Amino acid sequence: MSNAPRLIDPFARAITYLRVSVTDRCDFRCVYCMAEHMTFLPKKELLTLEELDRMCSTFIGLGVEKLRITGGEPLMRRGIMTFFNNMSRHLDSGALKELTLTTNGSQLDRFATDLYAAGVRRVNVSLDTLDTDKFARVTRWGRLDQVLRGIDAAREAGLRIKINTVALKGFNEDELFDLTEWCAREAMDLTFIEVMPMGDLGNEDRIGQYWSLKDLRGDLAMRYTLTDLTERTGGPARYVRLEETRQKIGFITPLTHNFCESCNRVRMTCTGDLFMCLGQEDNASLRDVMRAHPEDDGPLIAAIEEAISHKPKGHDFDYSRQRADGQVSRHMSHTGG
Ligand code: 5AD
Ligand code: SF4
Repeated sequence: MSNAPRLIDPFARAITYLRVSVTDRCDFRCVYCMAEHMTFLPKKELLTLEELDRMCSTFIGLGVEKLRITGGEPLMRRGIMTFFNNMSRHLDSGALKELTLTTNGSQLDRFATDLYAAGVRRVNVSLDTLDTDKFARVTRWGRLDQVLRGIDAAREAGLRIKINTVALKGFNEDELFDLTEWCAREAMDLTFIEVMPMGDLGNEDRIGQYWSLKDLRGDLAMRYTLTDLTERTGGPARYVRLEETRQKIGFITPLTHNFCESCNRVRMTCTGDLFMCLGQEDNASLRDVMRAHPEDDGPLIAAIEEAISHKPKGHDFDYSRQRADGQVSRHMSHTGG
């Protein structure tokens, strides 16, 4: 069974991709994402696992075909495997085409086999450096060896792995080729992400300097032959193939506007707020609507449809303007990456 998309926004974009943050907590404190001392949300604010299921199932009923679970660190959410196991019924029915997650990799060692059994086939692992000391500096609390073990476990479980690397000037510029070659060797896709104006940037750490992916691409082209690929995922990623290694490299430039017209996605926070656009504050609280109607999905569906009818044409990130203009004050760990 496949659901015809029922969520069409004012710009005729079909919303078929939902990204859901299941926790704001994380066992890392990446400098561009969190402050070292974070105050996390009280548990009652979070959607319960049952509510997450109901929410996602409602979206799937409205034509969402791809679900990405994010955080914070999604695998830090207690009982999260119950949620994944229950979601697999939508894979079995054919309504859901893909169930996936974005993780920092620290818990993959424990969960990789179970994730595969639940129907997950691909994971995105965030990793900015292959140097143990630098890894500890950028994540503050993370340990590289644990993440590398997690990646190995994921591969052994049969999961395809994509590495997401935030491009940070003066931090991982010198590892461009090491990271690229490592991914080629391990048959992992690699995507670079331009650092977004969120979290604790511009702090005294001096990590988190903007490294334009245009420059990064130019650096890659000094060693490899780059062929642009036309494939699009409805998001901000653009891909090239390195002819020498045949590997695919992605570039995510959230600061440019060149992807909004094909946007197919919305994001839900762990408190059930639906954000129509990563770069805009406009959101709809779905949690209270859902809680007010425990037996009837009608009001929730109406609230989702109403929210989608406000999905903006594009976003306003712009480094050249003042904070109040384009900058989004919420942390990535709240909205989900
Ligand atoms: N800029 C770019 N990417 C970020 N992430 C978190 N904060 C930022 C930011 N300020 C990314 C992480 C991970 C995902 C969860 O979001 O590196 O890939
Ligand atoms: Fe955790 Fe990911 Fe944020 Fe790092 S970027 S603190 S791993 S949620």
